[in-house]
Amino acid sequence: MEIRLAPARVADFHQVLADHPRYWGDRDLRPMHLITLVQEFGPTCLVARAGDGIRGYVFGFVTPDGTGYVHLIATRDDSRGTGLGRRLYAAFAEAAAGQGARRLKAITAVENTRSIAFHRGLGFAAEFVDDYDGNGRTMAVFHRDLPL
Ligand SMILES: CC(C)(COP(=O)(O)OP(=O)(O)OC[C@H]1O[C@@H](n2cnc3c(N)ncnc32)[C@H](O)[C@@H]1OP(=O)(O)O)[C@@H](O)C(=O)NCCC(=O)NCCS
Repeated sequence: MEIRLAPARVADFHQVLADHPRYWGDRDLRPMHLITLVQEFGPTCLVARAGDGIRGYVFGFVTPDGTGYVHLIATRDDSRGTGLGRRLYAAFAEAAAGQGARRLKAITAVENTRSIAFHRGLGFAAEFVDDYDGNGRTMAVFHRDLPL
């Protein structure tokens, strides 16, 4: 089935929220899904569209210091391990570089071993930062230079 990457529409945003468990399992990351991202950072908020719906998405933006920051990336439970996450990152990196980004950054929970393996597989360096959120929580922080 053909999968096309395209900027997320408002309806896509609501669709991925409705199907939230298919992307995130038991974890509730709905509060991190901000419509502002889709409205204001359109070129760096992408969905992977197929005949049977949205297979994955990446929501991010470029910071003033030239960092392409990936806020959320997820692929649907039936699409994992097929290279779609890598494809979404490549499209995000290209869009971010087009806006002047020179590096990429993302964060994830230290328990999210799949995400850590995924980011390392994409050539990110992982750093474990204590008290990242000011509430004592350690987070895995990923960095890598562009191009991807
Ligand atoms: C993390 C996630 C986005 C990966 O997406 P994916 O479509 O399965 O990833 P890909 O198939 O493109 O894999 C790309 C590379 O990552 C690595 N990788 C991906 N999943 C992995 C896993 N579970 N274990 C080890 N390596 C893995 C592989 O090295 C792969 O390299 P290859 O292309 O040389 O084979 C997906 O598992 C997911 O949506 N998880 C739930 C949401 C989440 O935790 N998101 C990240 C936090 S923001």
